[in-house]
Amino acid sequence: MSSFKIQGPCRIKGRISLPGDKSIAHRFVFLGSISRNLTVIKNFPFNDDCISTAKVFKKLGAQISYFPREKLVKILGKGLRGLKKPDSAIFVGESGTTLRLLLGVLSGQSFKTRLICAKSLSRRPMLRVTRPLREMGARIFCRKSPQGEEYPPITIAGSNLKSIKYKMPIASAQVKSAILLAGLYAQGVTRVIEPVRSRDHTERLLKAFRADIKVLGRQVSIRGKKELISAGSVYVPGDISSAAFFLVLATILINSKIVLKNCSLNPTRAGVIEVLKRMGADIKVTRHRSRFARFEPMGDIEVRSSRLKGTIVKRSEIPSLIDELPILMVAASFAQGKSRLEGVGELRVKETDRIKSMQENLRKMGADIQVTRSQSHYAQAYTDASDSVGCKVTSGEDIVIQGGFGLKGAKVKSFGDHRTAMSMIVAGLAARGITTIDDTICISKSFPDFLKVLKSIIK
Ligand code: S3P
Repeated sequence: MSSFKIQGPCRIKGRISLPGDKSIAHRFVFLGSISRNLTVIKNFPFNDDCISTAKVFKKLGAQISYFPREKLVKILGKGLRGLKKPDSAIFVGESGTTLRLLLGVLSGQSFKTRLICAKSLSRRPMLRVTRPLREMGARIFCRKSPQGEEYPPITIAGSNLKSIKYKMPIASAQVKSAILLAGLYAQGVTRVIEPVRSRDHTERLLKAFRADIKVLGRQVSIRGKKELISAGSVYVPGDISSAAFFLVLATILINSKIVLKNCSLNPTRAGVIEVLKRMGADIKVTRHRSRFARFEPMGDIEVRSSRLKGTIVKRSEIPSLIDELPILMVAASFAQGKSRLEGVGELRVKETDRIKSMQENLRKMGADIQVTRSQSHYAQAYTDASDSVGCKVTSGEDIVIQGGFGLKGAKVKSFGDHRTAMSMIVAGLAARGITTIDDTICISKSFPDFLKVLKSIIK
């Protein structure tokens, strides 16, 4: 394990470009592999998760070449029906997005596939995806817990799918995307209705690859059996989830200013910008009008030091910042007054239980952080609805942070979770004294160059 020592506080200054957005990159590989013609993906993030997706589709017969120095991936797709049965089990690494979206594609294939994964992913719930896919006709066999939840490894045998209308009990882009991808193979129109809109990259990119897809409020419909045509040369905007660490860091440090270039500004992902602005952050956004920005909005973000005040993050905002909650907990610890993050229970089923890991770490650094049963009635109703369809989700929890006292250095842990690790590095850089983090290798899951980029802007 490589532990990492930080002496805070410091200041940062500079202009940086972030690695391509992980969610968008996964989807370009998926669609590039099952469409016709060549897809050239620029600014591809060569992180562990996205490499897992590319390896999976290579194994399923797509012609994929990598050019890491140019941050480029080229895919000669096989069309909707061109994937081949893999010669052995497919390893999906630690990537939840790879696995859940893949279940959608494999539901429509004429062969059987065995999917295996690394340790942390084998503890993440799958019933939320397997349930609707079985309704469409897929045959899926998983490891089962005594409570009825399902986990990898998974064996999936595709079939002739039928379309469904599915009212999702939880807002999850992974579940929505798996159903839409299966919908490509189904007879008729598949409809998905979300309780709150989650990230919409799958919808946007399916449109770019000429799928017959319609979005009406919280409902997405897709007509199956239509061949996809590649969008050709595409660009992956910088990852807003990676940007979030720098947005918070530049805000809470004194005399700091940074510019994040070519960053994703997709409104279903930009909740962190809205919340930080509401807390008093000095953030300016300049939108780009390039041809690459026509599928996924992007632009530059400028951020300067400022004094934050506490805020309430509503449950309806959570899907737009779900992966940024750990770093928002750090921001709230530095903000004057009380912050409440409502209905955050989904954090319990990420790479780690992020409520537990962040609470334990921030408390060690002197933060006043409590977890309570959600005060939002809506969140509770939502939890009950999730339970009633067999998906164990406890979104009825709030995090309450009383901030403004600063943090002090401590020995903290990443728990093997990339976003916990990066959040705690940011906390350490703004804290008084020395912070040590036990293990930072996990950061390569999304942002292998994080420490290098960080060092380049520390003054
Ligand atoms: C993702 C969706 C989110 C997010 C994950 C990536 C995606 O998960 O937390 O990191 O790319 O679709 P859920 O769909 O489980 O909310």
